[in-house]
Amino acid sequence: MGTTSSVLVMLFALFFIERLEFICSTNSNVSCIASEREALMTFKGNLTDEANRLSSWVGKDCCTWKGVCCSNKTGRVVKLDLRNPIPATYGPFTAYFDPIFKMNELSGQVSPSLLGLNHLHYLDLSMNNMQISNSLGSLKSLRYLDLSGSIFNAKIPHHLSNLSRLQYLNLSNNFLRGPIPNTLGRLTSLTILDLSSNNFNDSMSYSLCNLSSLVHIDLSHNSLRGAIPHCLGNLASLSILRLNYNQLQGPILSEMGNMTQLIELDLSLNAFQGPIPSEMGNMTQLKELDLSQNQFEGSIPSEMGNMTQLKVLHLSRNQFEGPIPSEMGNMTQLTELDLSWNAFACEIPNSMRNLCNLRVLDLSNNMFTGKLSTSIGSPFGCIHNSLADLSLSFNKLSGGSYIQLEKGPSEEAALRSCYGFS
Ligand SMILES: *[C@@H]1O[C@H](CO)[C@@H](O)[C@H](O)[C@H]1NC(C)=O
Ligand SMILES: *[C@@H]1O[C@H](CO)[C@@H](O)[C@H](O)[C@H]1NC(C)=O
Ligand SMILES: *[C@@H]1O[C@H](CO)[C@@H](O)[C@H](O)[C@H]1NC(C)=O
Ligand SMILES: *[C@@H]1O[C@H](CO)[C@@H](O)[C@H](O)[C@H]1NC(C)=O
Ligand SMILES: *[C@@H]1O[C@H](CO)[C@@H](O)[C@H](O)[C@H]1NC(C)=O
Ligand SMILES: *[C@@H]1O[C@H](CO)[C@@H](O)[C@H](O)[C@H]1NC(C)=O
Ligand SMILES: *[C@@H]1O[C@H](CO)[C@@H](O)[C@H](O)[C@H]1NC(C)=O
Ligand SMILES: *[C@@H]1O[C@H](CO)[C@@H](O)[C@H](O)[C@H]1NC(C)=O
Ligand SMILES: *[C@@H]1O[C@H](CO)[C@@H](O)[C@H](O)[C@H]1NC(C)=O
Ligand SMILES: *[C@@H]1O[C@H](CO)[C@@H](O)[C@H](O)[C@H]1NC(C)=O
Ligand SMILES: *[C@@H]1O[C@H](CO)[C@@H](O)[C@H](O)[C@H]1NC(C)=O
Repeated sequence: MGTTSSVLVMLFALFFIERLEFICSTNSNVSCIASEREALMTFKGNLTDEANRLSSWVGKDCCTWKGVCCSNKTGRVVKLDLRNPIPATYGPFTAYFDPIFKMNELSGQVSPSLLGLNHLHYLDLSMNNMQISNSLGSLKSLRYLDLSGSIFNAKIPHHLSNLSRLQYLNLSNNFLRGPIPNTLGRLTSLTILDLSSNNFNDSMSYSLCNLSSLVHIDLSHNSLRGAIPHCLGNLASLSILRLNYNQLQGPILSEMGNMTQLIELDLSLNAFQGPIPSEMGNMTQLKELDLSQNQFEGSIPSEMGNMTQLKVLHLSRNQFEGPIPSEMGNMTQLTELDLSWNAFACEIPNSMRNLCNLRVLDLSNNMFTGKLSTSIGSPFGCIHNSLADLSLSFNKLSGGSYIQLEKGPSEEAALRSCYGFS
């Protein structure tokens, strides 16, 4: 998951940063304001900097210091980027075990002196080892705040909710615990919110529904419980919703069909139940949909065929049943289709021949019947062109891949459901 969507986030970030660079002085005709220089020096003084990353922080003109950027109009510090650079090949968690990464960390208490920088728009302290305090909530001009992988065993300071202009907030990879604080609902300018890879363990806060400008929300890899709140359907601008790897329950609500701008929806690895509501067919912009490893049931509604932009569809390891609707042949952009480990039955519809872009097709461990050659079978229609990974085992298909089913509902029940749908 995440290829199309990460491009989207990058575009947003680039747009945001570019707008900021525009006002950052490069050819330093402006020079640093003395009080802001003092603030930065105090901030530096409170940090341990083993690798000497702040060695350029000397002399009068703080606008030329590494990681500092000033407005070319006012000379005010507008951006502070002290992210610990991690090797590109590492994920956030692998990095923690790398000695060079550890040495590059800035660690210690974030000094309240930072409040002297009251025109700061952009603050990135990510992948360091910082203790932050409520005072950060006074940086009223902040639009962009990245504290990912940098604050340990802490709670989100309540006063962060005073940052009413914040558009980007990243608190991922921080071992944050307890409920998602309701006060986040006051950050109504937020466009991107990443709380992934923490230990949030309560239900999804209703206050999130307040964030009507959200385009991207990532709550994945936590221990969230309970159902998705009904009001989440209000977030009609959402493009990316990631709730994977939690302990969420209950059905997909029909209100979610209101999220017609969604490009990526990942609900995998939870305990969701019930059928796919037909309203989901209204998510016609969707490119990636992952519902795998839940307890979903029922058949695929024919309205899903309206998702003609879909590239990746993962429904594996649920209790889906019934036939593949022939409308799925309209999903001609599909590159990955994984329906494995369900109780899908009946013949594979001929329309599947139209899926010319498929690279991965996994229909294994279902109860599909019939002859492959009359569905997708040889000569495979145009599927043949790009298919790199094909798995059809553990079905009742003939014409090449006949393997006796081991478990699942009885054949009779499966056949009944075929007639019921035909
Ligand atoms: C720098 O300032 C001087 C005088 O204050 C002005 O003439 C010059 O155009 C400025 N240069 C730039 C690149 O802004
Ligand atoms: C930060 O540094 C200042 C002056 O250098 C000192 O007075 C203060 O106690 C330090 N604060 C922390 C939390 O280390
Ligand atoms: C600030 O920098 C931008 C881009 O470098 C330039 O277009 C703009 O004229 C500058 N503004 C001032 C006041 O120097
Ligand atoms: C945040 O707002 C609350 C209530 O409006 C106020 O009591 C508090 O002092 C503010 N905190 C900061 C750090 O500005
Ligand atoms: C949040 O930070 C993590 C770690 O720095 C990064 O991998 C992730 O892409 C960021 N999320 C967003 C939405 O930018
Ligand atoms: C929702 O936002 C409004 C301001 O737009 C604020 O007054 C209210 O407290 C917020 N509600 C929650 C639950 O955060
Ligand atoms: C969440 O975790 C904390 C301890 O980390 C625990 O006290 C609390 O009961 C947990 N909440 C839920 C709903 O499980
Ligand atoms: C959202 O969907 C529900 C049911 O599907 C509908 O009744 C409601 O009017 C929709 N809300 C908005 C804001 O579109
Ligand atoms: C959403 O889908 C339902 C059922 O498929 C349909 O009746 C409804 O008109 C759709 N709503 C919108 C806003 O497209
Ligand atoms: C979605 O699909 C259904 C059934 O396949 C169809 O009746 C309906 O017109 C489609 N809706 C849209 C908006 O295309
Ligand atoms: C979708 O597929 C169905 C059945 O395969 C077909 O009748 C219908 O015309 C298709 N709709 C579109 C919009 O292509």
